[in-house]
Amino acid sequence: MGVLRHIRDLANRALSPLEYELARSAALYPWQHASVMIPPYVSGTLPEGAENYLRPDNPRLRELQERYSQCAPHVTEPATWDDGHAGKVNLRYFRGSSPFVWQLIGRNLNELGFALTAYYVKSIDRLGLLQILQEDGLFGAVTYAVDRRTVSRDLLDSILEIYFLERHLAISQRRDLRILDIGAGYGRLAHRMLCALPNVESYLCTDAVAAATFLCEYYLRFRGLEPRARTVPLPDVEDVLKTVRVDIAVNIHSFSECPAAAVQWWMALLRRNEVPYLFLVPNGVARGTPVVLPDGARELSQVIADHGYRLIAIEPKFADPVVQEYGVSPSCCMLFQRA
Ligand SMILES: C[S@@+](CC[C@H](N)C(=O)[O-])C[C@H]1O[C@@H](n2cnc3c(N)ncnc32)[C@H](O)[C@@H]1O
Repeated sequence: MGVLRHIRDLANRALSPLEYELARSAALYPWQHASVMIPPYVSGTLPEGAENYLRPDNPRLRELQERYSQCAPHVTEPATWDDGHAGKVNLRYFRGSSPFVWQLIGRNLNELGFALTAYYVKSIDRLGLLQILQEDGLFGAVTYAVDRRTVSRDLLDSILEIYFLERHLAISQRRDLRILDIGAGYGRLAHRMLCALPNVESYLCTDAVAAATFLCEYYLRFRGLEPRARTVPLPDVEDVLKTVRVDIAVNIHSFSECPAAAVQWWMALLRRNEVPYLFLVPNGVARGTPVVLPDGARELSQVIADHGYRLIAIEPKFADPVVQEYGVSPSCCMLFQRA
């Protein structure tokens, strides 16, 4: 035993720079074994017509790409979303684990975290959203069966985000709510919010990546959410905002992936249009940690403050510290108000 421990310690010292460590296989859960490969998406989950439409040579995608290439480069120039990152998006299985929603990343690679998160959501679910919102697993979503329900990160994160806004802005009680989602991805939160809250009058989804806009247009149409939900291509967003009042701007895991110049452009747009609130979820930081933008240029909260928005609420994604440690993709939620 002593010799084995010695060999293990020597090996671990050598492996440590690679962030690997030897462990007894009996101490591991089944999904932690190196031989277990969890596929990034569930195949065979495409509805009729999806395979034919969701193709890189779709003329609508080409048209959006051409239009986006004419936009101001400081808005579209990628920080995180370069060709390599965007290339990880599977156009057909876009709800699988992908740059839009990393369902299987880091500690998410296990059903325990999903179960813990699902029970946590159940414990705060006073609007009964786990009953109202369903997960059908379409477009490759990675799902788990917990408590006789099918859950995904798309579903659980969306419910948590809705409750953050409910706690601070009582969104279920507001009449004719209008929301603008910047960096909306495939329209995850638009779908969930419109199904959960009939009082949301309009939900606009915009993005600086053409493939996201293409998928979002398709997804909102597929879910039958138009015209309450609408995808606004980047070149049209300024004109559309001249005609629509927005109550809350939403930015989830998007500004963290933008260069400072792009965040500045979006914030100036919000300020010009007198949008009163900004709901922000930065990438993977615990409560209060400063978020340095990916180009290293600026701290995110400072860029937001420079545009006249002040932080009025900040909470960990999960109020329970144990769930914040082991739940799915811990982060924090921030609410800014126009001064
Ligand atoms: C991690 S995904 C999050 C998607 C969505 N908000 C969600 O939570 O499901 C990041 C999103 O930011 C978008 N994005 C990247 N660069 C952007 C930019 N400069 N301006 C606006 N959105 C951008 C991407 O296209 C992508 O949709």
